[in-house]
Amino acid sequence: MQLIISPDIKENKIEAIFCPVFEDNEKLAKVFAFFAKDQEVKLLSRAKKEKFTGQKKHTFLVHLKDKVVIILGLGSVRKLTPEDWRETVALATAFLKNYQAKNIAIIANQWLQGSYDVEGLAQSLAEGLLLSSYRFDKYKKIDKQIIQINIDNFYVELGKEKKQSFLKSWAIGHWQASGAILARDLVNEPANVMTPTYLAEVAKNIAKGNKKIRVRILEKEQVERMGMGAFVGVDRGSDEPLKFVHLIYKPSVRSKEKIALVGKGITFDSGGLNIKTGDSMTQMKIDMSGAATVLGIFSVLDQFNIKAEIHGIIAACENMPSGQALKPGDIVRNMQGKSIEIANTDAEGRVTLADSLAYAQKIGANKIIDIATLTGAVMVALGPDIAGLFTNDEKLGQEIKKASEITGEKMWPLPLPEEYKELIKSSVADVRNASTIRYGGAITAALFLQEFINKDVLWAHLDIAAPAYAEKPLNGYTPVGGVGYGVRTILEWLRKI
Ligand code: BES
Ligand code: ZN
Ligand code: MG
Repeated sequence: MQLIISPDIKENKIEAIFCPVFEDNEKLAKVFAFFAKDQEVKLLSRAKKEKFTGQKKHTFLVHLKDKVVIILGLGSVRKLTPEDWRETVALATAFLKNYQAKNIAIIANQWLQGSYDVEGLAQSLAEGLLLSSYRFDKYKKIDKQIIQINIDNFYVELGKEKKQSFLKSWAIGHWQASGAILARDLVNEPANVMTPTYLAEVAKNIAKGNKKIRVRILEKEQVERMGMGAFVGVDRGSDEPLKFVHLIYKPSVRSKEKIALVGKGITFDSGGLNIKTGDSMTQMKIDMSGAATVLGIFSVLDQFNIKAEIHGIIAACENMPSGQALKPGDIVRNMQGKSIEIANTDAEGRVTLADSLAYAQKIGANKIIDIATLTGAVMVALGPDIAGLFTNDEKLGQEIKKASEITGEKMWPLPLPEEYKELIKSSVADVRNASTIRYGGAITAALFLQEFINKDVLWAHLDIAAPAYAEKPLNGYTPVGGVGYGVRTILEWLRKI
């Protein structure tokens, strides 16, 4: 998709026009002034028939002789958020499914010429267009009924003064969405394809094409030698070789910030010997969604000129039952020498993370964000769309939360109460991997992770078990399947540090 900005788009190639309209103080005639007189009359009379006043989500389509016009109600201009733009664009692309239009224009002059947020519009437009066109159909015989949305040229009528800022923000939106799309693809791949080896190949390919990014892949013997008894323990039941992935982004300038993004990389979670029931196992290919988020971020990371050193860390393996598998009651030791009683083999993510977090600190990270499909309990607490946000640093938590309010990726803070640490005390080891009670399972999992965080390290944990995967379309631009959750929010946060 090519972006074409011009102060006067009287292109005859254009097949569809997006025409966003605000609810307040906008004269429809002014919006439609772009069109020839006879077309303007037709548009106005249709708008009248539709009782259209620019209400949010009120959209309709008008056929002109050589093109279609998609009128999009945006609601009140004062309340307009980036999410509204993404949703509105998604509604518009939904119309395109029937028209196979390749040349699209948007007439947003009112917006663009006013003192409004041009950057926000440009970024959300790009995100909305790309994300709403996403499909995962590589394993399906192409269904002739379904037309792929495939835009060649996207025209924006805009004068010189704002062209540069529009272009810059459009590029940000484009890259953030592209990162999320890669993450979606990785989550959607079935576990027989998305093995730890495959995941490591994806990381290698990201580094290969990029001067600022390097990768280290550690094999079982290496991580064993480094003392990652926790990670190696979880892997024991699987026939797929484990991989430990370490991606490194170095900015062109030296930085004192060393940030680690740690993703849970269980490519399939059967539960291990504490095996899951059929129903709760069916979707467990998604248990590497945190890793997918990290890879999605790294795949576009050099596009933003971020000034910090960033490390991506993924302990990738399967959690499977076998004669070799971890048994309930086993005790393993992580890289820091902490002993962990395996009370439940299905609480495996936190056990692998015990080593990933230890590794992140060993390489000197002063700020860590981990992203993990960690607990079913967080879904009980916050429902199907919202991530749990835990942190040992209020400011870091607020920064991430703020970024999420721009991207529309919902999250909510949950506490790390000192008193609940009782629940993960072990009588035989330094810590237990599962609580003695069912209640507050997302919290006790987070408290377990905190056991491995040094005092001076700023840390945030996102439990994305719920929003990593959409069981039904989440919104206009997020279809059923992997969401790519966290890619845009973490990039939004990284761009502003
Ligand atoms: N991978 C699951 C968590 C999960 C559940 C992710 C549903 C996505 C959707 C995790 O490894 C797990 O099995 N957690 C257990 C922990 C329990 C045994 C303490 C859970 O939540 O039931
Ligand atoms: Zn599990
Ligand atoms: Mg979900």
